[in-house]
Amino acid sequence: MRATAIAQPNIALIKYWGKRDLELNLPAVGSISITLRDLFTEMQLELDEHLPADKLTVNGSVDETMLPRLSTCLDHVVGGGRVRASIVSRCNFPVAAGLASSASAFAATTVAAAHAAGKPLGVKALANLAGRSSGSAARSLYGGFAELENSDKKIIVSTLCESEQWPLTVVIAITETGPKAVGSTEAMEISRSTSPFYANWIDRQDNDLKTARNAILKRDFEQLAAIAEHNCLKMHSVMWASRPPIVNWNSATMRCLQTVRKLQGNGVGVFFTIDAGPQVKAICLPEHAHEVRAALAATEGVIDIMESGLGDGARLVEVS
Ligand code: DP6
Repeated sequence: MRATAIAQPNIALIKYWGKRDLELNLPAVGSISITLRDLFTEMQLELDEHLPADKLTVNGSVDETMLPRLSTCLDHVVGGGRVRASIVSRCNFPVAAGLASSASAFAATTVAAAHAAGKPLGVKALANLAGRSSGSAARSLYGGFAELENSDKKIIVSTLCESEQWPLTVVIAITETGPKAVGSTEAMEISRSTSPFYANWIDRQDNDLKTARNAILKRDFEQLAAIAEHNCLKMHSVMWASRPPIVNWNSATMRCLQTVRKLQGNGVGVFFTIDAGPQVKAICLPEHAHEVRAALAATEGVIDIMESGLGDGARLVEVS
């Protein structure tokens, strides 16, 4: 059976950092994200009983790095004794540089695998399966503004607001293109076991979630901007205070934050967020996107700019 699915990356406004169950990959905190529209990962998956092992190509080249995690993802969705799969991935943005490429890859793989295996699963079950492979992937099953809640032995993801109900624009300043030094899974464990700020981070997350949820429900841009920037800097403080420190920023990352501050001072509706990488994501009101893009493009050290509206959750493209 062959199935193809597509998923967009999501950007967390209230971040997931830390796990409460490593085995089940359950996050230690809830999170809120926006799903993008214009960046995508497509996964074509064919279950083939003649294949001796899973194989993966990404944008036309054989890729061994992502394959073990994708194989485990297939085990979760299809079942341990499954036949092997040929996976062909296409992606229109740099992978492994803090642009949530794993979120869209695992979300698309989960949807494609369920259909290829003839398992008619609903979106809640798919989100839980995707989350076992990568916590943030669960959110890419949903469009617009999504909230991930921790509940007992699973996660619950829901939509707070559809993309067309609050159509913000995201401008991404790329400041480096190589893969990151330490993956999120390992980095989160380093933070949990060594950062003096970790316990505080966990304690305060529910307050941040509540503030952001209210801001989204009221479409209050200023309130969302303030809590998202605070939550992002708090996560990075946890990371910076870890031992060894987890510092993904470069000098251009910092300069982009200064650019955003200057824009805000001029009355532009924009705020920043940064994930486990050096790129800066500027979330803005659509009428200010042009100005934000130009200012970030002119910032020293920015090597590329991407722009996206908000989009829908992962979906099946074809099955045969
Ligand atoms: C900084 O979802 O990549 O982007 O569950 O270990 O695969 P794993 O982690 P992952 O972590 C994402 C971390 C983040 C914040 C976020 O997206 O919420």
